[in-house]
Amino acid sequence: MKISEKTSYEAWLRYEAVENDALRANYRLRCSVIVSAEQTKVLGTAAKELAEAVQAMTGHVPDIAAIRDRQIPCVIIGVLGRGDPEIDGTAGPDADELGSEGYVLRTLKGQQGEADCIAIVGASDRGALYGAFHLIRIMQMRDSIEDLHIVEHPVNGLRMINQWDNMDGTIERGYAGKSIFYRNNGFVEDFTRIRDYARLLASTGINAITINNVNVHREETNLITAEYEQTLSKAADAFGAYGIKLFLSINFASPIAVGGLQTADPLDPAVRSWWTERASELYRAIPEFGGFLVKADSEFRPGPFTYGRDHADGANLLAEALAPHGGVVIWRCFVYNCLQDWRDRSTDRAKAAYDHFTPLDGRFADNVILQIKNGPMDFQVREPVSPLFGGLKDTNQILELQITQEYTGQQKHVCYLVPLWKEVLDFDTYAAGEGSTVARIASGALHNRSYGGLAAVSNIGDSACWTGHPLSQANLYGYGRLAWNPALSTEQITAEWIRLSLGSDPMVEDVVSGILLRSWGIYESYTSPLGVGWMVNPNHHYGPNVDGYEYSKWGTYHFADHQGIGVDRTIGTGTGYTAQYHSPQRELYDSLERCPDELLLFYHHVPYTHVLHSGKTVIQHIYDTHFEGAEAAAALLEAWQSIRGRIDEAYFELVASRLSEQREHAKEWRDVINTYFFRKSGIADRQDRLIY
Ligand code: GCU
Repeated sequence: MKISEKTSYEAWLRYEAVENDALRANYRLRCSVIVSAEQTKVLGTAAKELAEAVQAMTGHVPDIAAIRDRQIPCVIIGVLGRGDPEIDGTAGPDADELGSEGYVLRTLKGQQGEADCIAIVGASDRGALYGAFHLIRIMQMRDSIEDLHIVEHPVNGLRMINQWDNMDGTIERGYAGKSIFYRNNGFVEDFTRIRDYARLLASTGINAITINNVNVHREETNLITAEYEQTLSKAADAFGAYGIKLFLSINFASPIAVGGLQTADPLDPAVRSWWTERASELYRAIPEFGGFLVKADSEFRPGPFTYGRDHADGANLLAEALAPHGGVVIWRCFVYNCLQDWRDRSTDRAKAAYDHFTPLDGRFADNVILQIKNGPMDFQVREPVSPLFGGLKDTNQILELQITQEYTGQQKHVCYLVPLWKEVLDFDTYAAGEGSTVARIASGALHNRSYGGLAAVSNIGDSACWTGHPLSQANLYGYGRLAWNPALSTEQITAEWIRLSLGSDPMVEDVVSGILLRSWGIYESYTSPLGVGWMVNPNHHYGPNVDGYEYSKWGTYHFADHQGIGVDRTIGTGTGYTAQYHSPQRELYDSLERCPDELLLFYHHVPYTHVLHSGKTVIQHIYDTHFEGAEAAAALLEAWQSIRGRIDEAYFELVASRLSEQREHAKEWRDVINTYFFRKSGIADRQDRLIY
């Protein structure tokens, strides 16, 4: 790797030498030795990671020892309840707050001439690893490591990444090069990059990963067969060393495709025993295997519907096979009929997930988890929160986000998604009264479920900086941090990412956080007015095309004609989608007067002259925001240019080139969208100047 690529490759695990002499000496002293009495794989990783970080930041290579010399300051890494009184004593009453993956990070004052030490006490090996990464982060931030007393545990049990990688090396909706996992229908030979990815993920708290696309094609169907056991076990080890469990996306029709059966009917005894046997084989090869992720009866994927069965039958079949091994089935709720004739305006894609899954509430096995996309449609720049979160009580459910920027600029445009995700997590469903936020439903806390968490579609590939656009790394980092704790503020996550990745120059922090924090709003302003999404070119979904999306022929996603625009989803006159929400959200969205501007056209069909809360007409808003958005996109590049010379040059240039592409592309968006709606509405002269 070229030196100039190092900064972006290291991402937020960049360990620059500490500039301040006194601080460097202090870190060096406090971390002179790393003591880890136990020799497990994950604790070994924790010690090694800490040692490497200390070496890079202080120049001192710490010894890793099994026994502590009480005269020398050290960092002790250990796990509760394994017979070490010092470790158990350190946690004390904090132990009750750790759950199974938390940690205590604490300075122990030396008694009678003994040296002080820092204890990292995990509730498990994984907890200790997270504690080590936390200590590293404190030093990267150049904060004090004197008198530490930090107690942390993840809010979400499952903190998962979904790779949409295909074994031919392509990545579905990937914008950062080829897969780091596969080439030419097989695994890559060299796992270095996979290991480096595991590090990045674990440092943010990720504990689970599926390594193949939810659309399971021919070759990937074979992943659960004996043919791949050895390689999978190698991959599981690479992730396992960082406390990350390996999952596979499976093909529901596997019993036919690779099992030689005539059917995949979930109630057929031969199908059941085939899955049971396959699961046992997999666990024999990979004892730490996590389970299956399933996309069924969606976008042409096979599923239980073929046999007249429902999603509960399908999921429970796999759950039964995995249960003896402690595995789980993650069943996706992204189910809608894409063959539906969209001219039929009585149906509504937004209603599909709720309609399919709420009748099944309570029928899923204990080790089934439903994975629900944040919105009712599909990862648009702006859409409401899926009402399905308020519709299930007796079912495990996790929130699915998309880090890869399919509809949000494909990592050519900067679009920082943490603010969007925060809105989703903070959304109050009122399912069990006020305070029934998506965050509490997803974590399992609201309904006291045994499983909960977040999953997100990864945005990395083999690009030198992992994510194509270096600033898109902030989305991956931010996702991991929010999965750990959804209550973290956007500002904190943003500041952390900048300081870890780009150093602590206040001007850099100011400029980069300004760019990131404005970016979603800017992208929305020139692509998705008032909740209308989907105005993209077909299939690849990049670039403006108002009726381009493959299923939006006949204008079914914006319903614009010469009189008005927007989709009537109200109870009285529309599709009735708003009824899927609890009060008071239902009434809020149903009301033309009260519906928030940013979602107005998602819920209501209005004349172009309808006046928004902002005081502008709809058509004026479309016109203005597209101009303002294109200007704001240009201003992002200008802002970036002000930090030239303050960060790594290659990094700077890469971002600058993406921002200049964004600037040009934003103008195209502006012109295509404005022209279309002016012509449609007739409220423009022949030069497409707004005359209303
Ligand atoms: C979107 C995306 C597909 C993907 C699907 C899914 O529709 O365009 O590529 O397969 O979501 O989430 O399953």
